Amino acid sequence: MASEHVVQAGIYPHRTDQMIAWTRAALEGAGHRYTFLRSLHGPEADAALANADAVIAVIGEKWDAGQLARLERCRLFVSPGVGLDAIDLQAAADIGIAVCNQPDVCTDEVADHTWALILACVRKVPWLSARTAGGTWDRTLFEPMPRLRGRTLGLVALGRIGRAVAHRAHAFGMRTIAYDPYVDPALAARAETELVSLDRVFAEGDIVSCVAPLTPETRGMLGERQFGRMKPGAIFTNTSRGGVVDEPDLLWAVDSGRLGAAGLDVLAREPADPANPLLHRANVLVTPHAAGFSDQVVDDLQRLAVEEILRVFGGGFPSEVAWANRGLMPGGGRIAAARAADA
Ligand SMILES: NC(=O)c1ccc[n+]([C@@H]2O[C@H](COP(=O)([O-])OP(=O)(O)OC[C@H]3O[C@@H](n4cnc5c(N)ncnc54)[C@H](O)[C@@H]3O)[C@@H](O)[C@H]2O)c1
Repeated sequence: MASEHVVQAGIYPHRTDQMIAWTRAALEGAGHRYTFLRSLHGPEADAALANADAVIAVIGEKWDAGQLARLERCRLFVSPGVGLDAIDLQAAADIGIAVCNQPDVCTDEVADHTWALILACVRKVPWLSARTAGGTWDRTLFEPMPRLRGRTLGLVALGRIGRAVAHRAHAFGMRTIAYDPYVDPALAARAETELVSLDRVFAEGDIVSCVAPLTPETRGMLGERQFGRMKPGAIFTNTSRGGVVDEPDLLWAVDSGRLGAAGLDVLAREPADPANPLLHRANVLVTPHAAGFSDQVVDDLQRLAVEEILRVFGGGFPSEVAWANRGLMPGGGRIAAARAADA
């Protein structure tokens, strides 16, 4: 097998040295070259990217048509993680580059984190804890505190994460409804979740959780129209992408009392602008895009990337579950061309 060149352009910011060393050992052990770039700018990056046979990106980094054009021979581009909103999948397909993500890598983590935010808001844990630490011992401080059982969770999108959130909701005795115009109704039925309109999700949900991908269609999709329909005191969480929510409208819902509380893992602009008013509202909890994190995920991001690369370097195509722009490149792009040349 010919030696190929893998360029990693950034890495998930946790145990980075250990992860780089592991990836280097795995790829060099298989006879390939590995270059880790700390910056995408400058002549060293230009040369490495131009010579890369495969690229491992860092999630969230923008790869538009201009940036992808730097990859003169790359045939596989791996985005370690789930969201693909920062990558121009069509432009990659047009050049002939297969783009892979890791759709299952953190489904449980994000569903758990969604529930951590829901439960924190419903059971008022951060506020009770802060008051108690301040010397006030009064369990009735934060009434009303309605029982979860029998209430309705509305989901915006019923993909992998949405279904995992719904599954957990049933353990709490809740009814689940969802707005998702594209999900297979059989999957919704299996998730014991009724598919309804977006308006009904907001009107009927005691809690509404956004777990929708950021696409041209969903950008800014949740605004005053939806928040204005919510039951007074309802709870809203967002653990997918900040851009799905119109933040000034969310702020209005928070300040007007329409929302009892909100739990956000994602914001329109990240890292957060310290002046973002959502960071400074007593009834809003914000976590730093941490929902997909766990010890296991940090390992899996690199392991799955290497597996995909070795599959393609070994003469195969990317796995069906991971190949995100497969439908946009029926001819198989540069991977098919390399296979034809080897034959
Ligand atoms: N906070 C984090 O750390 C974190 C981690 C992983 C994923 N995410 C985000 O969560 C999103 C969802 O992940 P997933 O694993 O469930 O993805 P998925 O691909 O399994 O499901 C996405 C669902 O969204 C639905 N959808 C598409 N357009 C829609 C629209 N206009 N309205 C409503 N639904 C629509 C699809 O039909 C699909 O069912 C990802 O795209 C990513 O942005 C966030």
